Amino acid sequence: MPPAEARALAPARELVTAAVARLRDAGSPSPRLDAELLVSHAFGRDRAWLHAHPDEHLAPAEAAALASWLERRAAGEPVAYIRGFKEWLSLRIATDRRALIPRPETELLAESALAEIADRLARNQEIVNVWEVGTGSGALGTALAVRFRTALALGRIRLSAGDVSPEALELAAENLAANGVSGLVHLACGDLLEPLTLADAPAADLLIANLPYLTSDEVARREGSIGYEPALALDGGPDGLDVIRRLLRELPGRLAPEGVALLEIGEGQGVGVLEEVERIGMRAAISILPDLAGIGRVARVALL
Ligand SMILES: C[S@@+](CC[C@H](N)C(=O)[O-])C[C@H]1O[C@@H](n2cnc3c(N)ncnc32)[C@H](O)[C@@H]1O
Repeated sequence: MPPAEARALAPARELVTAAVARLRDAGSPSPRLDAELLVSHAFGRDRAWLHAHPDEHLAPAEAAALASWLERRAAGEPVAYIRGFKEWLSLRIATDRRALIPRPETELLAESALAEIADRLARNQEIVNVWEVGTGSGALGTALAVRFRTALALGRIRLSAGDVSPEALELAAENLAANGVSGLVHLACGDLLEPLTLADAPAADLLIANLPYLTSDEVARREGSIGYEPALALDGGPDGLDVIRRLLRELPGRLAPEGVALLEIGEGQGVGVLEEVERIGMRAAISILPDLAGIGRVARVALL
């Protein structure tokens, strides 16, 4: 990469070409996407703008910032931490090392939750109590609050989101505020359902959770962004299901009659969820919802 002063003279298209080469050499799995995201960020614009303005030039200070971001990315830091945000489900979610970066696969959990709530509102359920466990950056809670802003304001939906990490909850509060929905979501710190139990919250009609489900071995390998994200957000124990099993054991008595829990799971973990539900003796119908690639991503546990 030429020094920042020389690069400042280069047009956007050449900056992208040089950035792709640098990131490809460094072993990035997505050098073009990363390069375009970082170069457009240096211009304070998005990728569509970058494609439409290949001849624009950066000021020297912006070129110097870009050079340092490229080195951070070359060292393995995720683009979302470098830019400080991620576009997720049409929202801008602030991201930093306090919490997991929201993943595309979690959009299925969000869409399933949106559909469950819409269905209950359509059936004129008086109040829909929704809990999110392990909110992290607050991406899911923010998505629900933005979509159901009016129903929340009117008290038709009550939404609480918890996390055991106080740092993650700080970020969640920032994301709710940035998306104009603070005050509509109750945030609580503690282990699994404990904060909601202590607050004497009503039983949940819908519980959603994207809890850690990687195996400890996968986390220890620190591949990709995992080396930069909090282990607390990722490590689900020897087979990935430790935290999810604990949550399932806490569900009886906390889910309302006809209540539904939607749990994001890893590939092949549906069987483990089924076995745990049987072991507890919970009377529930379980379905595993697949993503577009046919991989089971969400376990839907509906009380009978
Ligand atoms: C995989 S991240 C998901 C974050 C966010 N919901 C998302 O989808 O991007 C899991 C989250 O669960 C939280 N967590 C882990 N163990 C927990 C526990 N025992 N009780 C509550 N939250 C927990 C972590 O701090 C982390 O924020």
